[in-house]
Amino acid sequence: MQSGEVEDVEIRLLLEGVQRIYGYDFRDYADASIRRRLTHWLAESEFATFSQAQSRLLRDRGVFESLVRGITVNVTEMFRDPAFFRAVREQVVPFLKTYPFVKIWHAGCATGEEAYSMAILLNEEGMAGRYRMYATDINETVLQKASEGVMPIMEMQRFTRNYQKAGGRASFADYYTARYDRAILSATLKKDIVFAPHNLAVDGEFGEMNMVLCRNVMIYFKPALKERCLRLFDSSLLPGGFLCLGLKETLEKKKIGERYEELAPPLRIYRKRYG
Ligand SMILES: C[S@@+](CC[C@H](N)C(=O)[O-])C[C@H]1O[C@@H](n2cnc3c(N)ncnc32)[C@H](O)[C@@H]1O
Repeated sequence: MQSGEVEDVEIRLLLEGVQRIYGYDFRDYADASIRRRLTHWLAESEFATFSQAQSRLLRDRGVFESLVRGITVNVTEMFRDPAFFRAVREQVVPFLKTYPFVKIWHAGCATGEEAYSMAILLNEEGMAGRYRMYATDINETVLQKASEGVMPIMEMQRFTRNYQKAGGRASFADYYTARYDRAILSATLKKDIVFAPHNLAVDGEFGEMNMVLCRNVMIYFKPALKERCLRLFDSSLLPGGFLCLGLKETLEKKKIGERYEELAPPLRIYRKRYG
């Protein structure tokens, strides 16, 4: 057997063990990307092989948590894909405004930038106090960071450009206070966002949502896990609700696709049909 094949077996056993002991199921993550992430994690760890890591991993929650951090890709930014946020502002918010109150789920929110961007946008569109957001992720370390709402000040120029391209109506600097090398987001943005752990591979739906965003998350999943997520989002969304996928994802050729119309091609904003 080649060493690559041995490593494939070790990885499979490791993911199986993790699933059995911790209930976190990474077995349906795309092969090439999870192999790359795990190889990087191993290289940074004290273990020489996956088999060596296995016994500690199954007994030591700290090692497991470092594995979760190693597997997940948490890159994000404020107003990521500004054209998407512009379309939400111009084409989705007019519908949301017709409701007295809306509920929004950000699945795979990483450090929270997407949810904070949405809070800025909704507040600017006159919806302050009329929404609640649930921002969830599998990685509790990023959720902790998300709830703090503190970002490196050096990112603010890039985020300001995104905000302007997304049709921002004020000055981005109004939303944070600069302290040395950090930008502290305004407390008014945080108060209607609930950050919570949720694992798309094993956990259940969030009821009665008007909007679900899951951007740049399912690209790391195999088709079966993508299908699971889409079913979860579909059962979480009210009729007339909006499903927002990342720019590389689509409902084309997907079972639930026929229940949706694409509102803003090619920005992957879909609306669930009534009936
Ligand atoms: C690249 S970030 C995307 C952040 C944000 N949605 C955006 O588009 O900027 C992907 C996030 O998905 C999360 N993730 C990966 N697997 C997950 C799972 N099974 N359940 C929930 N979140 C998951 C990762 O921890 C990571 O924070």
